Parts: sequence; structure tokens; C-alpha cells
Amino acid sequence: MRTLWIVSGGIEALPGIRRAKKMGLYVVVSDRDPDAPGFQEADDRVVVDTYDVGGTVDVAKKYHRSVRPIDGVMCIASDVPLTVAAVAEELGLPGIPVETARMAMDKLAMKEHFVESGIPVPWFSPVESPAHLEDIVRKRGLPLVLKPVDSRGARGVLRLIPGVDLHWAYHYSRTYSPTGRVMVEEFLEGQQISTESVILNGHTFTPGFSDRNYEYLERFAPYIIENGGQQPSGLSEDEMHSVSLLAENAGRNLGVKRGTVKGDIVLTGDGPRVIEMATRLSGGWFATDQIPLATGVDMVGIAIKIALGDEVTEEELRVNGRKGVAIRYFFPEPGRVVSIKGKERSSCVPWIHRLGFFVKPGDIVEPVTDHTKRAGFVITEGRTSQEAVKRAEEVIDSIHIETVPV
Ligand SMILES: Nc1ncnc2c1ncn2[C@@H]1O[C@H](COP(=O)(O)OP(=O)(O)OP(=O)(O)O)[C@@H](O)[C@H]1O
Ligand SMILES: [Mg+2]
Repeated sequence: MRTLWIVSGGIEALPGIRRAKKMGLYVVVSDRDPDAPGFQEADDRVVVDTYDVGGTVDVAKKYHRSVRPIDGVMCIASDVPLTVAAVAEELGLPGIPVETARMAMDKLAMKEHFVESGIPVPWFSPVESPAHLEDIVRKRGLPLVLKPVDSRGARGVLRLIPGVDLHWAYHYSRTYSPTGRVMVEEFLEGQQISTESVILNGHTFTPGFSDRNYEYLERFAPYIIENGGQQPSGLSEDEMHSVSLLAENAGRNLGVKRGTVKGDIVLTGDGPRVIEMATRLSGGWFATDQIPLATGVDMVGIAIKIALGDEVTEEELRVNGRKGVAIRYFFPEPGRVVSIKGKERSSCVPWIHRLGFFVKPGDIVEPVTDHTKRAGFVITEGRTSQEAVKRAEEVIDSIHIETVPV
């Protein structure tokens, strides 16, 4: 029985842990939280912070030597490619280069690399101080995007529009950077897209292709909050082709020869531009649920095979059928949650694939400043993306997360 080490025991890792067990693997899960949901389903569990690269390498090495040999390592719905790459390198397992993983966790280093290699990205610059930011705004005008170089979940990401205090913005964004570094970018107008590609030496595929929904850009300004996405994309074949090609080139360009890459791309009037490429499986139930539902492609199973060094056939990557799939989020009024009304009915609705809440009665709903402040989500199916979206919106409207001001 071969052993797979999964760095992440969060709730979104559960489908992946189950998939690995179904493939007959012995699954070891590591997570900082002793009560991580993934621990319940793992064959063995190790308590160590997923972001602690050296710590995870140390325990994995000991485990490999004295408990059982590890055959593969990966993460699921967790932004820890460096931890995974370091363990793989130390144990001689399949994986992406450590340098690639390091670059993927630093938005500035990644964009500098892309510019050098001719991969189209928005104009960007590091920002050294509030005065430097003011100077940039004077020269380039608005809107711009300010963001921490090394955070996630849209924490500290601001759309700079007239009226936003630049001193406040600089300090706010910087709070979210563990290394105290921020950068500014041109705000790209156009359809925002999430891609998820599989790179296999000779060939590359992009089964994950979702139109992201930014209907609340004004409502939550200056914060940039995504309200879900839908598949299949409404783009034309040609547009989809140009976006996929860019995602695949950008992934390879970072140094991924065999692996999955998740792209944030905007299709502008001048063609597609990369906002970010993650060298791992996506989160937000995209790889585990939305892609397989919409396309039949078993992204997680494929990523597991890649982690083990097993062969993946083109057949496995072929999109079979195209179903509509949508995800939308709950944005209740900030305050203390009193009740969640109307969720019972949904358990018997066949087109609701998954309904989840990040809050329960007694919890505080904070004002929406980043993706961690969303209160819950629903994933729906339909014959078309439009039908799936309509159904998701119906669910969001019919469930009431009641709050009282605090
Ligand atoms: N230059 C830009 N132009 C337009 N939109 C942008 C730009 N930069 C970021 N965004 C939007 O803000 C979102 C969050 O930005 P970014 O990906 O840089 O931060 P993050 O913390 O990694 O967020 P996430 O974890 O959600 O990807 C992006 O997915 C994109 O939708
Ligand atoms: Mg991002």
C-alpha cells in the first residue's frame, strides 16, 4: 500500500483525502489544528503547521525513515506549494522545483519573472512608502490595485479609486504582508477568469475554466470581493483558447514541468493578462467539486497521480459533456448571527451540489473586506451556466442569515 502525505486537513481537503483513500492509498495528513476535519478521515495524522516548511520537512523525514516510506506529497485547497516542494525535494519524490514554489508565493517576484519572459501581466511596481504611492498615482492616474506581495484570500487587496486615502491604503495593505511589502498594479478591465491546468511534460490541458463574478465591485469598494463564478465560460472558442494558452505558458514558464497550475487571468481589450499563477491545486471547491461536476475531469485524482509519479493519460483529461455549474456566496449584514433560516428545504433539492456556512448562531459577521469574510456559499448545477447561476441566486435569496448589530 503506497503512502500519500497531504499537507492540509481543512474542510476543503476532505474530498481529496477521500479520493486518495478510494485509490487504495494510505493517507497521512498534516495540519496545525489538532481538530482539523481531515484528521478524522486520514489513516495517520501529524500536527505541524502547513506553513512551517522546515518543521514539515523534519517530521516528514522522520516519518519516512521510521514509520513508513512516503511515496508522494501534495496539498489540497491550501496555499502551501513551498512546503510541498521542500518535502518532495528532501525525500526525492515527484514535485515542482523549490524555486518555482518560492516564486509562486511572492506576487512581485512572479510578475518580474513574467515580464522577463514576455508573459503579459498588468503594469506593476513595488511601493516603498505612502509618499511613493502618491507619486505613482500622480504619474499613472487611477484606478490602480494595491496589494500585499505575499498574502492570500484577497486580504489587503484594494482598488484605488478617487476618494481612497492613500496613506491609509498603504498601511492597511501592508498589515497583511508577513514581510511588510506591498505592490501596486494597473487595474485590468475585462472578464476575470479562473483557470486550472494540468501540465504533463509533452502536453497541457486546461479543464478548469470559470467566469468569475464581480457584480459587487462598487458595493464593497475599495475592497475587491468576488461573488463566485460559473462554468462553462461565456467566452468564445477563440477567446478561451487564448486564455488557456496563456495559462499553460505561464505555468511552464514558472518551471512547472509536471503538475497543476491555477490561474487568475483577465481578458482585456488587448488580450489576456496574468494576475497570478498558483503552482498547486485550487481551493474554493474548484478542483474538488466544480471542475469535475462541469467537465467530468477528475482534477484531484490526476493531481494525486502526478504526486505519486504515475502516468496520466490524455483520455483522463478530456472534457466529457459540459454541465452548468455555479457558485455564489452569502453576504449578510454585519453583526451577531441570530439564526440561519431556510436552509432545511435545500437538502432535498437535487441541483444543489453543496451548501456551506462559515458562521453559526452566536458568531460575528464582520464587514466584508476580503474573501475570508464571506459567510457561506452554494454550488449549483444546471443544463447551462445561466440556469446554474439562476438557481444559485435563488438559494442565496431564499436563505436568510439573520444578524443583529453589535
Ligand atoms: N491588477 C488587477 N486588475 C484587476 N483585478 C485585479 C488585479 N489584481 C487583483 N485583482 C482582483 O482581485 C483578486 C485578488 O487579488 P490577488 O489574487 O492578487 O490576491 P489574493 O490574496 O491572492 O486573492 P485570492 O487568494 O482570492 O487569489 C484577483 O483574483 C482579481 O480578481
Ligand atoms: Mg490570487
